Amino acid sequence: MKTLTIIKPDDWHLHLREGLVLKNIIHFTSEFFGRAIVMPNTKNPITTIGGAISYKKSILEALPESSKFEPLMTMYLTDDTDKGELINGFKNNIFFAAKLYPANATTNSSHGVKKIENLYKIFESMQDSGMPLLIHGEVTDPEVDIFDREEVFIDRELSPLAERFPKLKIVLEHITTSYAVDFVQENNIGATITPHHLHINRNAMFFGGLNSDFYCLPVAKREKNRIALRGAATSGKDCFFLGSDSAPHLRKWKAFCGCAGIFNSPVALQSYLTVFEEENALDNFEKFASLNGPNFYNVPANKEKLRLVSRPNKITEFIDVVDEKNTVGKIKPFHAGETLKWQVEGIAI
Ligand code: NCD
Ligand code: ZN
Repeated sequence: MKTLTIIKPDDWHLHLREGLVLKNIIHFTSEFFGRAIVMPNTKNPITTIGGAISYKKSILEALPESSKFEPLMTMYLTDDTDKGELINGFKNNIFFAAKLYPANATTNSSHGVKKIENLYKIFESMQDSGMPLLIHGEVTDPEVDIFDREEVFIDRELSPLAERFPKLKIVLEHITTSYAVDFVQENNIGATITPHHLHINRNAMFFGGLNSDFYCLPVAKREKNRIALRGAATSGKDCFFLGSDSAPHLRKWKAFCGCAGIFNSPVALQSYLTVFEEENALDNFEKFASLNGPNFYNVPANKEKLRLVSRPNKITEFIDVVDEKNTVGKIKPFHAGETLKWQVEGIAI
């Protein structure tokens, strides 16, 4: 039986939602991850210091007792973002980073940024104060094919931005193309890579009929991109780190409107590990999961260790969302019904 002991990982891109969903899913992350960057695209996006403080409080209240998990809060940038509020929030350790959603690029992004150039003054202050900028890198121009939106974003928006602000700490989130893999390495920025983009290509959405279980944004691309992402994630290179982009949607909504997002937090580590094993790169897993992120963000790595074991692990079909008495909804996890080869055994001393 193969085992692996690594420094406890962090999740550098996570959706925790609110209310009952938050209460029912947070333990999947808090049990095995030291910290997570929490995305601000809640129903009412987190655009103020006050909003971040109360969202963080609700996350801490939802944690299992004695959990030491640390949620790292982000500010959702809009056309009206107040520079003082942003930088103040960063300097006072309320915001860990700012998140840029181009308007209408993804779930709950209707308040996002319409014209990125309008934020250049803000980026200048972020660069000066060392505040990281996390980017959902897709254009929303309806004339651009959905499968090309990341590449076009890189050419139209990210490339000029990175050139103009060479010291700004930029993370291109949930990259999906070989074009992004190359851009990240050549431009001294960071990137998160999700487990699902390492496992599926765009065929998954069309297998056996339209299947929204595999629909997320940025949408999975052609196989050659998946291969490039696997190479990047397992390379051990400093610029690539773990960001699950776990994005739960209740089954009824997923089935009804096919909303974008894959819920992978119950299986994220096992899912990544499968890929690292298949690529003969288990030795680089700790870098990707536990070291490259802290290094990029200039924070210490976690102190605890986590023990992972190679043992068959059947993944449940649905996770229940319950209130005090009843099941009020279900969420389908990534790899539902599959048997993965890895399990997380627990915290090792
Ligand atoms: C995310 C969500 O549901 O909040 N969806 C997704 O497909 N990844 C938003 C996002 O990160 O794009
Ligand atoms: Zn996301």
